[in-house]
Amino acid sequence: MNKIRVGIIGAGNISVMHTEGYKKLENVDIVAVCDLNEDKAKAYAKKYAIPHVFTDYKKMLQMKELDAVSVTTWNDGHAPISIAAMKAGKDVLCEKPLAMNAKDAQVMVDTAKETGQLLMVGFVRRFENNVKFIKEAIENDELGNIYYAKTGYVRKWGNPGGWFCDKKRSGGGPVIDLGVHVIDLIRYLTGKPEAVSVTASTFKQLGIKPYIKGMSKYNAVDYDPKKPYCDVEDAATALIKFDNGMTLNFETSWVLHTKDDNNYLMFYGDKAGVKMEPEIEFYKEHNQYFINQTPCIEQETNKFAEIFNKETAHFIDCVANGVPCLNPGEDGVAIMKILDAIYQSAEVGHEVKIKE
Ligand SMILES: NC(=O)c1ccc[n+]([C@@H]2O[C@H](COP(=O)([O-])OP(=O)(O)OC[C@H]3O[C@@H](n4cnc5c(N)ncnc54)[C@H](O)[C@@H]3O)[C@@H](O)[C@H]2O)c1
Repeated sequence: MNKIRVGIIGAGNISVMHTEGYKKLENVDIVAVCDLNEDKAKAYAKKYAIPHVFTDYKKMLQMKELDAVSVTTWNDGHAPISIAAMKAGKDVLCEKPLAMNAKDAQVMVDTAKETGQLLMVGFVRRFENNVKFIKEAIENDELGNIYYAKTGYVRKWGNPGGWFCDKKRSGGGPVIDLGVHVIDLIRYLTGKPEAVSVTASTFKQLGIKPYIKGMSKYNAVDYDPKKPYCDVEDAATALIKFDNGMTLNFETSWVLHTKDDNNYLMFYGDKAGVKMEPEIEFYKEHNQYFINQTPCIEQETNKFAEIFNKETAHFIDCVANGVPCLNPGEDGVAIMKILDAIYQSAEVGHEVKIKE
């Protein structure tokens, strides 16, 4: 069996999910790891028995005995590193968001075409069991024409601080961090329509609130509560119209004076409606009654790890066996266009057209 030799670029939190996913696959060897922080890279290499350690990704990409990489750096590294990797003949699994903006994302896709390398974007939530179920329902026309959708990824107190709050490295706040996931799911599940216009507001009102007591939150590794710097939005809302006639109502926050966290995806069709989270519920008619139905679906027991295992396994299947990629780079560009338009609309104060 020819093994796929994989490298990890960016040895931070999420890279662990990639590494542990690869470690489960018999046809993968993780041969190199790279991080700007040498101590971190060395400790990572020791923990996961990775033979080669780098602090400069360009040097790592010179390795001939390297077939593919996971790009799991801050968002500002996604485009330059993925482009260099593809030019060096490596296939790429790049974390979301694909880039800092649609222009850079498009260069990544163009590079994939020019080099013939694979560019897969880490839209990991597409691998959830609930997503598979709803995709089948929509493809079987159980909802009919979906004319309206709603999604929210709302945190009461969840600003991670650190690089996430530094626009130079992140490109933005919860829109680019959380919104990217749910806007992608809505688009993916409804047959990938293209967005035509966006009207949005972003809010920079509350910051990190490092002094809050009684609750805990996820913090970026480089978060320092004594220096709670934040130059990105802490919440946003948008109305997004698509070329298939669907309108999407979207909201997100890292910090909001609201009761609790609230994650939801809702699809409304002319035959039925469906809610995806926290569990699937259908709303339809039966014998002239409205009925609400709940399907029986086993939930992932360790959802976060399981969906990353599926994502890395799929990436390797694409690389090793030429299986068509479920998450091609083009989908990352389509979402970046929407995210760019959200920020632009918030800045100019009116609707922004993406496609005439
Ligand atoms: N799919 C998901 O659900 C999910 C969840 C969390 C984070 N992410 C994404 O994963 C990425 C990393 O997030 P994280 O939480 O692991 O951050 P992190 O800060 O824990 O890790 C990022 C690492 O990348 C390193 N790095 C940055 N630039 C580099 C460069 N040019 N070369 C080498 N190393 C570099 C940093 O030193 C750091 O160790 C982000 O793009 C984030 O959006 C995705």
